Amino acid sequence: MLQGAICRLRPYRADDLDALVDAADDPAVTRWMTAGFPHPYTRTDGERWLAIALLDDPPNHFAIEAGGAFAGAIGILPRSGEHHGSAIFGYWLGRRFWGRGIATDAARSMARHAFQSRGLRRLEASVFVPNTASARVLEKAGFTLEGRLRQSYVDRTGAAHDALIYARLTTDPEPHLSP
Ligand SMILES: CC(C)(COP(=O)(O)OP(=O)(O)OC[C@H]1O[C@@H](n2cnc3c(N)ncnc32)[C@H](O)[C@@H]1OP(=O)(O)O)[C@@H](O)C(=O)NCCC(=O)NCCS
Repeated sequence: MLQGAICRLRPYRADDLDALVDAADDPAVTRWMTAGFPHPYTRTDGERWLAIALLDDPPNHFAIEAGGAFAGAIGILPRSGEHHGSAIFGYWLGRRFWGRGIATDAARSMARHAFQSRGLRRLEASVFVPNTASARVLEKAGFTLEGRLRQSYVDRTGAAHDALIYARLTTDPEPHLSP
């Protein structure tokens, strides 16, 4: 359990299924998520995901809980080989939880955990350029913009977009605590 200032991160539970599907099955949520995140998001997709997440050891994937409710999810995908010690970082929230600083708080908690308890050296996230809110979350969580991959992503309508690569190192300073 990772307690932040306005939300907490906890392992998934089997009874998250209804809230998970309800929040994830939304085109506004999936719009700038990579293609591995299904849309429409069915009950079967939720069951498949929970089957993976419930077995996660050590946990890489956490439910974000705000005001006692399932609000969304955040996680890391540790890399291997020459990328050992680095991990891909990602998150999403149900639409009704947007705009309250929850993703920023969750990203800060997750980064602290990844560096302090998992011994990771580098966290990396890439964002579709139009996803301004997500880029802002990363900046507020202490990530640095490292580069722009031109026309690297194709969205769900087939349109190509530049991707922004953000990263935070364990040696980078903690971000300021204002929301
Ligand atoms: C991206 C997402 C996680 C942000 O969650 P959130 O809890 O609303 O984010 P926060 O409230 O912590 O911060 C959002 C910041 O973006 C800003 N923002 C939001 N929409 C914006 C927009 N259209 N243009 C510019 N800034 C915007 C907010 O003002 C805030 O910055 P501020 O504190 O400096 O004012 C949420 O919108 C989401 O789940 N989107 C769908 C899934 C997704 O895109 N995940 C990320 C994939 S890389």
